[in-house]
Amino acid sequence: MTRHRLPKATAIAHSNIALAKYWGKKDETQNLPATPSLSMTLDALHTTTSVQFVERLEEDEVTLNGSRLTGEDLERLSLFMDRIRNLSGLALAARVESNNNFPTASGLASSASGFAALALGATRAAGLELPRSEVSALARLGSASAARSLFGGYVALELDALSAIPVLSGDGFPLQLLVCVVTTLPKDKSSRLGMGHTAKTSPYYPAWVASAPAVYTRIREALLAQDFEKLGRATEHSALLMHASMFAADPPLNYWLPTTLALLARVTELRGAGLPAYATMDAGPHVKVICEPINTRALAAALELVPGVKQVMVCSPGPDAAVKVEPT
Ligand code: PMV
Repeated sequence: MTRHRLPKATAIAHSNIALAKYWGKKDETQNLPATPSLSMTLDALHTTTSVQFVERLEEDEVTLNGSRLTGEDLERLSLFMDRIRNLSGLALAARVESNNNFPTASGLASSASGFAALALGATRAAGLELPRSEVSALARLGSASAARSLFGGYVALELDALSAIPVLSGDGFPLQLLVCVVTTLPKDKSSRLGMGHTAKTSPYYPAWVASAPAVYTRIREALLAQDFEKLGRATEHSALLMHASMFAADPPLNYWLPTTLALLARVTELRGAGLPAYATMDAGPHVKVICEPINTRALAAALELVPGVKQVMVCSPGPDAAVKVEPT
């Protein structure tokens, strides 16, 4: 039997932060969100993933930031790879190597850039050249926010949509987002478990799901109209509605640390002092602050001084995910 080496594909996808949040699933098997979401893709945070299907490899070999995945984490990845094997008809295990240039699993959307890069890299390594929307739909099955990371600029995942759609290019409204890192430790509850727990036990979950579409619409309209104040206010509202639903879970779900609250208070104070900025938080303690580029330096300098802040990363809207296939 003649053997040939299969191509190695290396994909790079950028992380994204939702201005209009997704929290909760409408359909668990299809991984369809219960709320529409809209995000900014970030230029400074990314995942690079290379994939190669290999003959005579017993099982998928996955390395994340230099450590081999085992147990449940490996199973989740292999189930995702099974979808690509089914689509392509390729029955081989793969060698996957993935690296983030930022802390993994701490609420900096590593699963978003991770599954986006994996979906793009693995499909190309399997010889599939799918339309971007189909790669986005595949990424959604790994992590719904990952559907958005296939595209650059501002991106929406609408209610009942299988894939994300670009809404506006980064140049269309060149805002910046300051990621205020408050810890490098991984979070103790994944967003998947957190949203399941919120949906099951929080009396505020139905109110969150009911109010999210109107907030999403406000954010979308403000973005297209380049209305920063309207966008910022609705962005904070979306994050706090989502976190209120978590706080009301039983037992409560609290991703915040004291520094999270200190940063929120500081952002409000700075805004009062004439530096327009608005905050958002995800399933982790970090605070992300959106602002207009003219105020970035002053805001970053002020936020770095908040006790407990480890680092402030300045992000601009990032590009589409990209892939390179090495000839064999
Ligand atoms: O896609 P997941 O399972 O990582 O969930 C993302 C949830 C939030 O980051 C809190 C909000 C969002 O829309 O990205």
